[in-house]
Amino acid sequence: MNADISKKFVIEKAQKSRFHEVDFENLLFGKVFTDHMFECDFVDGAWQTPTIRPYQPIMVEPSWKVFHYGQAVFEGMKAYKDENDQIFMFRPDQNQERINKSAVRLAIPEFPKEWFFEALNRLLVLDQQWIRKGLGNVLYIRPFVFATEPAILAAPSTTYKFMVIMSPVKSYFRGDVSVVIAQHYSRSADGGVGAAKAAGNYAGQFFPTNLAAKEGYQQVIWTDANTHTYLEEAGTMNVFFRINDTLLTAPVSDRILDGVTRKSIIDLAENEGIPVEVRKVTVHELVAAAKDGSLKEIFGAGTAVTVGPVKSFAYDGVDYPVIPPAESYAARFKERLLNIQYNLAPDPFGWRYQVTENNY
Ligand code: COI
Repeated sequence: MNADISKKFVIEKAQKSRFHEVDFENLLFGKVFTDHMFECDFVDGAWQTPTIRPYQPIMVEPSWKVFHYGQAVFEGMKAYKDENDQIFMFRPDQNQERINKSAVRLAIPEFPKEWFFEALNRLLVLDQQWIRKGLGNVLYIRPFVFATEPAILAAPSTTYKFMVIMSPVKSYFRGDVSVVIAQHYSRSADGGVGAAKAAGNYAGQFFPTNLAAKEGYQQVIWTDANTHTYLEEAGTMNVFFRINDTLLTAPVSDRILDGVTRKSIIDLAENEGIPVEVRKVTVHELVAAAKDGSLKEIFGAGTAVTVGPVKSFAYDGVDYPVIPPAESYAARFKERLLNIQYNLAPDPFGWRYQVTENNY
């Protein structure tokens, strides 16, 4: 790793908190940011002094490579508070590993694990009042890294900025969503960057998702780019199908993100004795299951939404309703995950990570 990790963090505290200016009952996802942010530059082949400072605009140059070639990756994480004001994150080791995997795919230098964790622990302790107690209140954490070389030569940047910003949020989607299965546009391709949390993967979804929205669908279920026959992801999430009582989801690949919520749901299901099949799922079998009544549920799984039920899907111009049984898997997994995340239940998997000043 290109960094002298014995370097001390520089901390500049905000003079005044903006906390009291925020209407926490009417938060739009990711529109309000906490008092502090983390910043660290990669210059001269090494990560420089890790710095925490008040949240503020940064100066940019129009020639920064990130604006021209999209050399940028990010993560999504959350922090939760229990009734005793203890702060937790959920499987942060997974996000730490994944941001570096994503970085490698985009030819960005990896960021030191020690600083990733120190930055998060310090930020969360400094801005702890922004993590409000109570189920549904959560702090969304956005680590990201992008190319800052002022040069428009199409080659990897020689300089980068790694940042973390944090935003108090409530739920991501309101209500169950209707989705349309992609038959023309694709999210990712074999050998591409689909498995990386690359900024451009999300930008590429905006246009087809807007088209879907005009038809009344909130999200697109992405299919494989070659044949549009395999169901891969839903919007910005991994996707699960319940046919009879079996849970199905696509295997991760270089087209599909290795989602933390996805892998946690697979573990929970196996732990509960629910049959799980991690295999390619075809549009054809989904439509057949919807027609013969064996399709019980579809739900997305991702950090922002946790578990997002789908109330109908459209394919070839036909809408198929999905009516979950009373014993819904989506509701069950969401409850189990939230109970672990908010320290309301034992954590048999060791997924909870407590944030404390002892961690730095
Ligand atoms: C997630 O839920 O994991 C996401 O990446 C959503 C984010 C794009 C808001």
